[in-house]
Amino acid sequence: MPSDADDAAPVADLAGDHVVVTSGPTREWIDPVRYISNRSSGKMGHSLAVAARRRGATVVLISGPTVLDHPAGVTCVDVETALQMRDAAHAHLAASTIVIKAAAVADYRVAAPLAQKIASRKDRPLALELIPNPDILRELAARRTGAFLVGFAAETHDLRDHAAAKLRTKGVDLLVANDVSRAGIGFEADDNEALLLDRWGGVLALPRMSKRRMADAILDRVRHLRAGPPR
Ligand code: CTP
Repeated sequence: MPSDADDAAPVADLAGDHVVVTSGPTREWIDPVRYISNRSSGKMGHSLAVAARRRGATVVLISGPTVLDHPAGVTCVDVETALQMRDAAHAHLAASTIVIKAAAVADYRVAAPLAQKIASRKDRPLALELIPNPDILRELAARRTGAFLVGFAAETHDLRDHAAAKLRTKGVDLLVANDVSRAGIGFEADDNEALLLDRWGGVLALPRMSKRRMADAILDRVRHLRAGPPR
């Protein structure tokens, strides 16, 4: 396992790979000043992009709004909405050998975002109509390009059952499941703890560690699963 240091000795074991990572939240606009979003910080996705780059891959990072810097040596595509993230992900899929969907995509968007700020009428309720966003991960899986597909699952309860269901319905090769209800790991935190479920029936529990170390552990698992019949 590599150390946390930025200058950890590079091992070019992903040289020749084209890795696409999605990261961060999406932002679904209500009007020009208000939006619906979620707590994703982008730390896990950005760590994956940095680790893949350090390990020799060509990396595209498609990210919703975060406070994080663009990682050096990585092609960064900044998006806001789920629809923009979807377009970018589809555009980069064909060239990719590994796709990692760490982004927390908003499940719904406002049906009719307003071009002007909504005037407040505090004497009456305001109803917003929300319509479902496309499931980007399922769409990418359905294209069956041969890229190794990694999804994430953010859960607050029944982690393993929900993760197993998502592994099947999303059609991914590997699913990284986090319990986001626990303090210190998951959303916004620097650490994570995860259960890695793969399509061959394997389950690997990664104990609490920094997201930077976890990024390498996830990439190690991808390499292991690609290398041959899983054990
Ligand atoms: N995802 C996606 N497009 C969406 C929603 C989710 O590509 N519209 C991806 C995420 O990037 C992640 C995985 O699907 O890799 C699971 O996301 P999660 O939010 O845990 O699950 P949902 O599919 O949104 O299901 P639910 O909110 O019901 O748990």
